[in-house]
Amino acid sequence: MEEFGELLGNLIIFLFALEAFRFLLKRLFIHYGKWIKTNTKLHPLLLKAMNINKIFHPWLGYLTIVVIIVHAYIQTSGFAFLSNTGLIAAGFMVAEVLVGFIGTYLMKKPRPSYWIWIHRLIPVFTLIAILIHND
Ligand code: HEM
Ligand code: HEM
Repeated sequence: MEEFGELLGNLIIFLFALEAFRFLLKRLFIHYGKWIKTNTKLHPLLLKAMNINKIFHPWLGYLTIVVIIVHAYIQTSGFAFLSNTGLIAAGFMVAEVLVGFIGTYLMKKPRPSYWIWIHRLIPVFTLIAILIHND
């Protein structure tokens, strides 16, 4: 069971990386999209990747929270004890998903520019917290 808990821990990291990948995908699109369109046949593929990523982005975020809860439950034998470093990492992750939710469904568009900076900064703290938790 503990091995399954570890596997779930690594799955959280994988899902987190997939979420953060949106940053690189957008940079690729913004800075090299034109070049890719004129010089290669890959532009439709890039558009498709952007679209799929956009559709799944919120859902992968929610899924991450579910996996964190299951991971924490297994690793702590049913919350018999807690892990401070795990809780901090989870706290940042929940905050990030909340910020994403607020920006998507509650804020008027266009969103204020500070929003994206918060949504970019929290993953940096999350990554540091995960590294400490896994030490
Ligand atoms: C962002 C959230 C989290 C991630 C990415 C994560 C990831 C991981 C990973 C990969 C491991 C295996 C580490 C190893 O084998 O050395 C692990 C272990 C563990 N996790 Fe988490 N975890 C998270 C949140 C939590 C939470 C919320 C709790 C409990 C409240 C928790 C409790 C534990 C415990 C008790 C262990 C085993 C002992 C240890 O290595 O500290 N984790 N976690
Ligand atoms: C672990 C969770 C998440 C991570 C690590 C994450 C990370 C990111 C990153 C790196 C970007 C690109 C920022 C940029 O343009 O520089 C982004 C954009 C965005 N995210 Fe998230 N996100 C998460 C969850 C969510 C959730 C749950 C939602 C909505 C319910 C959401 C909504 C958005 C929106 C609206 C954008 C900006 C618009 C866009 O790029 O199309 N995010 N996110």
